[in-house]
Amino acid sequence: MSRTRGNPWPGLSADVLVAPSLLAADFARLGEQIDAAIAAGADVLHMDIMDGHFVPNLSMGPGIAASVRAYTDHPLDVHVMVTDPAYYIERFADAGVDSITFHIEATDRPRQLVDRLHELGLGAGVTMRPGTPTEAITEVADVVDLVLVMTVEPGYGGQAFMDDMLDKVAAVRAMLGDERRVEVDGGIDTETGQRCATRGADVFVAGVNIFRSEDIRAAVGRLRQATRDGRRQCGAAGSG
Ligand code: DX5
Ligand code: ZN
Repeated sequence: MSRTRGNPWPGLSADVLVAPSLLAADFARLGEQIDAAIAAGADVLHMDIMDGHFVPNLSMGPGIAASVRAYTDHPLDVHVMVTDPAYYIERFADAGVDSITFHIEATDRPRQLVDRLHELGLGAGVTMRPGTPTEAITEVADVVDLVLVMTVEPGYGGQAFMDDMLDKVAAVRAMLGDERRVEVDGGIDTETGQRCATRGADVFVAGVNIFRSEDIRAAVGRLRQATRDGRRQCGAAGSG
């Protein structure tokens, strides 16, 4: 099955999107784990890129992204936690990924990065650390395809969800309106995912709660159902 590569967001119209984070996959069985996530109904695959500078951890580089690209046509959504996003955008674009989300703290020229991503035909997302105020992304809020609200401190999987990020989810949803996506990442399970959904999130990244569960298919299904219920409540409340 083939898909036109590039910016996946306009073509993904479902009310909620589930994005398993490969960081929690067993890297020795990455292909199998990708197959399982796609068979379970994953809408996009989330890849966390860490450079050991912007965050203290190291994860995957462009070589792994290229291998994953060669393995699947499924949308690849890359979250770059790096000090030099301008440089790495080019490397990951060369690797063939479909969308890149960068940190606002890592650049003085966020608008240029978004323009470059769009020029490359890729989706463009912006994100911020939990301690960074929502206003920091104002300059690009009207041009990005999505805003990712980090619900843990970036750097590691398996951390506890930060409750105080729920107000930020609502603030970002109010800033974006209904057309674009609000993604949450970190400590997402059925309960935290649903709470984020009621505040306006509609893309749900989950690592440990999908890949370390006994049944990947059931985990994706549960997260989709819980977040869909949350979105309905959000709509019912008239807040997006
Ligand atoms: C953390 C990463 C996350 C991570 C989430 O820096 O951005 O994508 O994989 O992992 P869980 O869902 O296990 O908290
Ligand atoms: Zn991530």
